[in-house]
Amino acid sequence: MPDPLGIHDLSFATTEYVLPHTALAAHNGTDVAKYHIGIGQESMSVPAADEDIVTMAAAAAAPIITRHGSSQIRTVVLATESSIDQAKSAGVWVHSLLGLPSATRVVELKQACYGATAALQFAIGLIRRDPTQHVLVIASDISKYDADSPGEATQGAAAVAMLVSTNPALATIEDPSGLFTADVMDFWRPNYRDTALVDGQESINAYLQAVEGTWKDYTEQGGHKLDEFAAFCYHQPFTKMAYKAHRHLLNYNERDTDKHTIEQALAQTTTYNNVVGNSYTASVYLALAALLDQADDLTGRPIGLFSYGSGSVAEFFAATPTPGYRHHLRTQANRDAITRRTPLDYPAYLALHEHTLPTDGGNHHTPTQTTGPYRLSGLNNHKRIYETR
Ligand code: COA
Repeated sequence: MPDPLGIHDLSFATTEYVLPHTALAAHNGTDVAKYHIGIGQESMSVPAADEDIVTMAAAAAAPIITRHGSSQIRTVVLATESSIDQAKSAGVWVHSLLGLPSATRVVELKQACYGATAALQFAIGLIRRDPTQHVLVIASDISKYDADSPGEATQGAAAVAMLVSTNPALATIEDPSGLFTADVMDFWRPNYRDTALVDGQESINAYLQAVEGTWKDYTEQGGHKLDEFAAFCYHQPFTKMAYKAHRHLLNYNERDTDKHTIEQALAQTTTYNNVVGNSYTASVYLALAALLDQADDLTGRPIGLFSYGSGSVAEFFAATPTPGYRHHLRTQANRDAITRRTPLDYPAYLALHEHTLPTDGGNHHTPTQTTGPYRLSGLNNHKRIYETR
């Protein structure tokens, strides 16, 4: 029997600032219950002018390197859909900030919010080939929609770093996976825009189709029965989406959809995304972190993960917590990443939302705002300059 493979460590980082939905509601005259109850969001992480996907990714991964060292890491896969360069992988800057060995392959992956799951599966493939290696998988994203558009309330930002290895300390990633791809324009961002375009209703429908499609394939591939799962972590563009998705899955399987059953399967998976907002590729893994940080012992009990990336590609698979996993969680650090954020009022948020980096190739310093370990200190000759604190 081959050694189990999966997530050995998981750490996340989010931004310097946070906008409470009460401030957004007061600005646009929306009943705040629409945000708190209707879409299930309380607040959203907002990056400082000197934060980006690289600084968040490095901040998420640094504690993993401190704990495990980097000598076994030979691959870094950074998944994002808020890429900062069309050629160079954001992971190369992260590799440099973390001081990783030069004998490393580094690559960036994209397929909307699904990318990190592809990265995780590719990591498992690499480790199957050489079980002595570790792969560092990082999901880092800033979700940004036009101000005063329906998507604005579902913005957010975070990075999740996962060390993938044999005999994982946290959770085994099991075979099989249920897969689903459909060519649909529910959400996209052309290269000339820095805010995403979304057809909200279409994205909900496409997501639910993908839940059904992945589950059908998962069962055909011989996966667990529905009742064997202890909980379900869904990609959460807004946390209410997880509730819609799970109700859909239960209906599809002709099960009861009573409120209590759904709450039990989901409630603990939404508490980080509810206050961070949509972190795209990181979202489903923030759901996993929230669940593991709060649930009673889940050792040996499969957790269903549903990863969805608009466009669309989706995957359903199981992660099973390994004996002793609770000793390896980063619960306090995760909570601190959320509580350390400074609340913004609406005008301060809008100023950051409208802030763009100069494109003239000159030498520009970014204002010092973040108190995090890494910052984007400026731009020179079209090159981003980073600094470690
Ligand atoms: N109290 C409680 N609930 C309220 C409410 C109130 N005062 N006002 C509205 N609601 C509910 C609505 O009934 C609706 O719930 P339902 O979906 O269960 O019916 C929910 O709040 C949202 O209302 P809606 O009118 O649909 O809001 P919207 O037009 O602003 O759109 C989204 C909401 C989520 C579609 C929009 O924010 C969006 O497009 N977000 C981006 C989604 C995305 O990124 N998708 C791609 C990745 S999957």
